[in-house]
Amino acid sequence: MSSISTRKKDHIDLTLTESSQYKRPTGFQLYQLKHNALPECGLEDISFRSHLLGIEFEFPLFISSMTGGHGEATNLNAEIATFCEHFKIPFGVGSQRVMLEDSTHEKSFSIVRKKAPNAFIAANIGGAQLIGGMPSNRLLSMISSIQANAVIVHLNPLQELIQPEGDTQFDGVLKGIEKLVNESSVPLIVKETGAGIDSAVAKRLLNVGVKVIDIAGVGGTSWSRVEAARITSRPDTDKVGSTLMRKYELEMQERFNEWGNSTVYCLKSLQELAWEREFEIIASGGIRNAQDMIKARCLGAHFVAVAQPVVRVLKEEGLTGLEKWFNLWRKEATMIMTLLGVREWRLLSEEHITPHSS
Ligand SMILES: Cc1cc2nc3c(=O)[nH]c(=O)nc-3n(C[C@H](O)[C@H](O)[C@H](O)COP(=O)(O)O)c2cc1C
Repeated sequence: MSSISTRKKDHIDLTLTESSQYKRPTGFQLYQLKHNALPECGLEDISFRSHLLGIEFEFPLFISSMTGGHGEATNLNAEIATFCEHFKIPFGVGSQRVMLEDSTHEKSFSIVRKKAPNAFIAANIGGAQLIGGMPSNRLLSMISSIQANAVIVHLNPLQELIQPEGDTQFDGVLKGIEKLVNESSVPLIVKETGAGIDSAVAKRLLNVGVKVIDIAGVGGTSWSRVEAARITSRPDTDKVGSTLMRKYELEMQERFNEWGNSTVYCLKSLQELAWEREFEIIASGGIRNAQDMIKARCLGAHFVAVAQPVVRVLKEEGLTGLEKWFNLWRKEATMIMTLLGVREWRLLSEEHITPHSS
């Protein structure tokens, strides 16, 4: 296995533990949904029809980019693809950098199109890989390997800086994104990986032509925690000689565990921008149930996305478990909409939410 491939496998195992999650909350707990004692609608009346990039979906849940590049990833991707095809849910594959550097890993990605011939599937590459511009043959290879409907660019400077083998130069990422917007045959989505995109960064992305932003804020998977766990689980490196310095280094890394912009902070910060500019917002980072999903819509999201719970359910309960998880989620969402007296996803707004009071 190549080193990127080994790292990707470690990531799956480490994100399953509770300690991989931020201790800081998303911010959704600061709000409550307004109960409507006279809803004048029933469970059968609720519609979650929603749009992303001009495409209609039955349910506004995106399975976030996660995996690819090793044997287990092939199975996980195949199962996620089967699930998404069945429920007509869009999803993103994990970073395809591994496949661009070693074509033997292509199968772990291309399997998704075999299992999901009709689903919306997004390719994935890191912003740091776009510095200097992405060569057209690499772009083509990424898109054609899965017949992608969109390309996702992930921004993860926090993870890269914590990761011992990570990138440390981010000058030129925005220019790379601009070039990709102009050269890609499919639309672009830009996401964080859990430390959040606020309005200042969103504005710069919109200025180079990006139309969909997945905020991926603090409250769910913490890549700083995941990378720190990887470092701690390795035998001591000789990078830091003494035990005391090793201790100080770990403490320094731990201070980044809770770094980032919370999911709700990002959503609130994007609200004003959404009045001025036309773009679509995907809310993610710690979205863990249908209540979070509906609160996110009330705060301006068009769609929501989930990562860690999907891989956790798949690993523990398999595809059947994932189907049950989704049915439960959809049931809860339908009950909530009924209790709000709102028949359609698109009609949810800030009117239906209020700051929490006891
Ligand atoms: C196992 C795992 C692997 C991930 N790999 C990628 C990746 O390759 N590319 C990417 O853009 N995001 C990746 N992510 C980040 C997620 O897409 C998501 O942005 C982040 O985990 C926050 O969502 P969550 O709190 O629902 O987990 C990964 C997440 C997990 C759990």
